[in-house]
Amino acid sequence: MKGLILSGGKGTRLYPLTYTRAKQLIPVANKPVLVRVIEAIRDAGIDEIGIVIGDTGPEIREAIGDGGQWGVRVTYIPQDAPLGLAHAVKISRDFLGDDRFVMFLGDNVIQGGIADLIAQFGDSRWNCQIVLTPVAEPQHYGVAELDADERIVRLVEKPREPRSDLALVGIYMFDHHVHDACAAIRPSWRGELEITDAIQWLVENGYAVHPYIHRGWWIDTGKPIDMLDANDHVLEELTPHVAGFVDRDSQVDGRVTIEPEAEVINSVIRGPAIVGRRTRIVNSYIGPFTSIYHDVVVEDSEIEHSIVLEHSSIRGIPQRIADSLIGRNVKLSRSPIKPSAHKLTLGDYSDVGLL
Ligand code: TTP
Repeated sequence: MKGLILSGGKGTRLYPLTYTRAKQLIPVANKPVLVRVIEAIRDAGIDEIGIVIGDTGPEIREAIGDGGQWGVRVTYIPQDAPLGLAHAVKISRDFLGDDRFVMFLGDNVIQGGIADLIAQFGDSRWNCQIVLTPVAEPQHYGVAELDADERIVRLVEKPREPRSDLALVGIYMFDHHVHDACAAIRPSWRGELEITDAIQWLVENGYAVHPYIHRGWWIDTGKPIDMLDANDHVLEELTPHVAGFVDRDSQVDGRVTIEPEAEVINSVIRGPAIVGRRTRIVNSYIGPFTSIYHDVVVEDSEIEHSIVLEHSSIRGIPQRIADSLIGRNVKLSRSPIKPSAHKLTLGDYSDVGLL
């Protein structure tokens, strides 16, 4: 089997972070989501992976290289424009050949990996298997209807009156018949070749399309709040490990990972939390559900339920920072200059909540 990861797209819902960075490279618990996807596919026993890339391709190539670091072989498949998930399959035809494959959206995080579902599809003669999960508000998702034999009969995008609570998760398995489906369908009203239309085509043409019901958590990291949610879940499952330096005046409670060369001085770190390489936490409080990435400085400040990306600094902020997503090379400090006022240099689409 082969793996196909979709890492094109624009990531508009994560502006401004995704103006300057591919959304799949934003870290959750200090590891880029795309790396988590690669590891999940590798751990399911697949080592040949195609990555569909768009405008942010150069950055993704630089971060992932040939995949050797993760024990996989990566082939890049450039997509001129994000013309839909089925379009991404279409342009990957040469890479995929006639092999069975798993397609994974490069911005999704799922609990427990995908080894079980790959094994189930690998052992079956099914033509397609789609991952579904029960959700509270199915009207916001792509929803599947099953028949009495648990075969898929219909997929409906954001139905007003959902016939089931089973939503499509961004993981799909196909055999080569999907290429006929992708060739047969036409773009939807939004101008995209929809994978749901391709799957519906398979159903209507008599191919065996089966569900895999996923019971753990699953997060599509489309919006900032989803990034924080994914971060919460992954941090809770991290095995705590202190490799960096923690001085005697500091307190580290609960599930906390301090990465090598990090320093924690006269501070409290309350888990679940992670502090990245070469990061310095001085006279500060890092609260639960917080990921501080590498080369960050936090001094005389308090922060909880947040993600801070690399090379940023937070110094002398009197109020606690919470529920925040702070990008790279951000400087947050108290200004000594009078008159006292908030002095902000914010990028387009920034979202700031002041007291
Ligand atoms: P989406 O979240 O649907 O799209 P997006 O990344 O453009 O995000 P936004 O809505 O915020 O603008 O895409 C899901 C994943 O699939 C994501 O990793 C990007 C990828 N993708 C492609 O690689 N090619 C495509 O044609 C599309 C539509 C998505």
